[in-house]
Order: sequence, then C-alpha cells, then structure tokens
Amino acid sequence: MATWIRVVVLVMACLLPASAECVVRQYNFDVVMKNTTKLCSTKPIVTINGKFPGPTIIAREDDILLIRVNNRVNYNVTIHWHGVKQFRTGWADGTAYITQCPIQPGESYVHNFTLTGQRGTLFYHAHIFWLRATLHGAIVILPKGGVPYPFPKPREEKVIVLAEWWKSDVEAVINEALQTGLTPNRSDTQTINGYAEPTSSCPSERGYTLQVEPGRTYMLRVINAALNEFLYFKIAGHDFTVVEVDASYTKPYKTDTVLIASGQTTNLLLTTNLGTGKFMISASPFKNKKIATGTLHYIGTPNDTATIVLTPIWPSENTSTPLVDNITDALRSLNSKEYPVTVPLKIDHSLFFTIGLGTMPCPTCTIGNRAVAHINNITFDSPTISLLQAHYFNIKGVYTDDFPANPPNQFDYTGTQPANPQTMHGTRVYRLPYNSTVQLVLQDTIRLALESHPMHLHGFSFYAVGSGLGNFNPIKDPKKFNLVDPVERNTISVPAGGWLAIRFRADNPGVWFMHCHIEVHTTWGMEMAFVVDNGNGPNESVLPPPHDLPKC
Ligand code: C2O
Ligand code: CU
Repeated sequence: MATWIRVVVLVMACLLPASAECVVRQYNFDVVMKNTTKLCSTKPIVTINGKFPGPTIIAREDDILLIRVNNRVNYNVTIHWHGVKQFRTGWADGTAYITQCPIQPGESYVHNFTLTGQRGTLFYHAHIFWLRATLHGAIVILPKGGVPYPFPKPREEKVIVLAEWWKSDVEAVINEALQTGLTPNRSDTQTINGYAEPTSSCPSERGYTLQVEPGRTYMLRVINAALNEFLYFKIAGHDFTVVEVDASYTKPYKTDTVLIASGQTTNLLLTTNLGTGKFMISASPFKNKKIATGTLHYIGTPNDTATIVLTPIWPSENTSTPLVDNITDALRSLNSKEYPVTVPLKIDHSLFFTIGLGTMPCPTCTIGNRAVAHINNITFDSPTISLLQAHYFNIKGVYTDDFPANPPNQFDYTGTQPANPQTMHGTRVYRLPYNSTVQLVLQDTIRLALESHPMHLHGFSFYAVGSGLGNFNPIKDPKKFNLVDPVERNTISVPAGGWLAIRFRADNPGVWFMHCHIEVHTTWGMEMAFVVDNGNGPNESVLPPPHDLPKC
C-alpha cells in the first residue's frame, strides 16, 4: 500500500469517536553522509538529513508517527525508537536481526507506530553496527492536549543531546577490535548537541551555547546518546531539579550533578537565578579525559566575560561510589493519582541473570582469545533473519526458547575470579505468556572485571525495585524492595560489583531485545531477547508486518 493510502486509512481511523484527538505526524529521514562544521572535520559522517544530531521528533502522547527512513549510504541501516513501547508494533522497533532485517542501501522503510501511554524525552538511534555514534536524535513526547506537566510550566524547553565522536571511521574502529580480539579505541571527544570541545585549531565554532534570560525556569531534556560512556552533566554555579527520567515522571529531586548512563534521558528544571555571567556546561565521562563543554550564557552578558568553570571532582572509574550510588538511588516515581505506580506485586517468572565479560577462543586473534560479554554465561549470536519474523511466521531453526532462568554455575559472583572465564554461545530467548509478571535480578560478575552495566529493555519500561552491593541474597534482599514508588525506566545501571532487581508486566506481545547499552558490550554479546506470546483478547496479539518490511 502506498504511503498516502496508509495516511488516508489512518486519518479515517482517527475520525472514529474514540480517538477524537488523534494526530498523524509524518517524518522523512534520509540517511546520508555529510560533514559538519560543528566537529571541525572534513570527514563526512553518517547523518539523518545531513544533521548531527538528527532532527528532533516532536509529538504528543497518543499521536501516530509515520517515519520513512531512506537509506542513501553504503551501510545496512536500521533506526530504533529507544524507549517507545511499540505496543503490538514490534515491526517498527528497528532492531537489526531482532525485529527486522536491515534496510539495505537504496531501500526505504516506513515505521508506523503510536505513542501510547508515554510522555517525556526519548531518542532514536541506529541499531546496527556502531552507526548510532552519529545516527541519533531526540524524541519529545508532549502530554496530551490540555494536560499540564505535574510541575510548574517552564519558560522554555531545550533538548541537549550528549554523544561521543571518533576522528576515524567508527566501523573501522570496531572491526579492527573484533579482528584483534582487543578492546576498541575510546572516542576522541564527547559532544554536546553535536559540538566538539572548542580548540585552538577549531576557532570558528565556540561549542554549544545555551542563551538564557535571568530569573526564569528552563526545562533541559538531556539525552545520553554516547556509545560507550556514562556521563556526568553539570552546570557551574547552578542546581537542577530532576522531574522525569526515561519518559516517566519522578518526584522532584534537587542535585547539582546528574549521572546519565548511555541510553538514559533526564529532564531537568534549571532556574536562572544568577542574573548575569557565563557558566560552563560539562558532560564528562568516568574515565576519558575528553570532557565536552558548553556555555550557559545569560543574555546581556558581554561575550568577552570570563566563563566560570567546573573542576572535575567526580569518580574516575565506573565503580560504585557514594556519589554514583546516591545519584542513582535517589530517584523515585512521582506516583500521583494521574501517574500511579503499577509495580507487579505477584510474580509469575522470577529470573536471576548474571551479566559480565568473558573470553572465547579465537585462533585468528592477537592473543588467541577474544573479549566477549554474556548474560547467564551465554554470549548472544546474532541470527541472520529477525527473531520476530521467525516467531511470527513460525520459522524453525532461528532461535531456541531455552534461555535459562538462572546461571549455569553458582559462585561468589563478586568475589574471586572463577578459574575459567569462558562463556557459551547461542541464540536463545526466554518465553513469557501474555500478561505474565516478571521479576528479574541482574547480578554483576567478576569474570575479568567488575563494571557497571546500563541494561536496556525494549518494548517495556520497568520498575527498579531494589539494588545493592555484593551478591544478591534471595531471602533478605527482597524484604527491602521498594514496591511503593520505585523509579520507572527503560535503561538502568547495575552497580559495579552489585545487583539490581526490576519488575515488569509482559503485556506487549512480540520479541523484545534486552542488552547492555554500552555498545562495545552489545557487540561482545551481552544481550538476549524475551518472546512474549500473543494473548487471546482482541488487542493482545502482534499486528501483521507492513508490506515494506525489509528483506534480508
Ligand atoms: Cu538504545 Cu537496543 O537500544
Ligand atoms: Cu555493559
């Protein structure tokens, strides 16, 4: 069916009485190579419509989006709408080899989905190879018409996309690492809204500048689109109030530092109460010294005024520290009458997944082994057609549904390193009946190194009901779970050397990827998928695939 016919059909559906305010928004995304002066580089990068970051999608809760992606580069491409629940529309999730085959060079694909039951800041990004380094942009979902924010209306809203950039081709960086079996190079710089750190060799651009009027409240929609880094976001001399994370409202939380893991979004209220001056905005990773900076500039302040700078005081590693833990533990769901918490209290599937790094024999690699990552000791093998197609069309031999509910061996996960760091591999999924409830405890393991992993689940948001250091204790720890106002997210960090418990209801049929959002760990196989079966009711099954679903 041609796109215009589909629009007519959708618009007619919108005329039905039940959906009086239904709006269809269309976007055209051309994936093209382009160089950007913001990076002071003449090397073209992969972009959407020549923009870095890509264009912001602005819509309202309940709107229908029709986004046509035209692949005009020499890579296979998919675009994922990170955090959008895709209720029954997994075909539009954009996850290569999980929900669709990639869009091949010269081909197009129309993503058709509705923004149901969500409002806030999300983002989109490529979900294949390392293309999301530069192929990403913001999604702003405003509340339904006439519905206010549950906090005072800000004077203005600003999107701030944080990312990281390699001077060399990112695909070459990861391919080289896979050939040698070693860790890929770190990025050359972080970016704020596409601006690299200003340098003397790049005088034409002065970095990202946020112009503000004094005495106002601004809402910053901050997105960590970096491939591999956790980022601390700070503005010299100013505090923030966090009001929303991952498109879910929180109780207002005051802080001067926010820690945003790769894949997370945070909405902040910023009050411009200093009246005048220039203040450094910084996005700084744990380890990498390449901090991205920008400037908060009070209107009327002369350009040659010295900027008040920040000196980094934050931890230098992604370990668990009081600062890191306080920032992560402090967030609570708003849990109001309008936005109630619906954490499952009765659990049907209680899962315990260990996560971590490991090794696998690799005769062609420099040291005979290559770095891998795992969930329950299984390194995920990507299939060659999508899991959702295999599930929907009942194609055998693509995956097995025997992903284990528990790790194969028990050991002191956060104690001494086990003698054998090798993992198994396979394309295994965990099957969930429609509407079943899940508790999943994610346990970091010492194999190779203790490290914090921001785990991301597609198709759902979940409640983070508890976390702690050391090994999870199934008797004692659940007693301390927060079942009243736990934060609701789609991406959350498992503490380094610790555990984290989440709960969700499997009310979205389809195939849903779960993985660490540190891209190098995804590449190494720290991923798995849930298959949620159809229910029996009228709106409880996966919709049929669109006619233009890309072919492998
Ligand atoms: Cu933002 Cu599966 O990713
Ligand atoms: Cu990880």
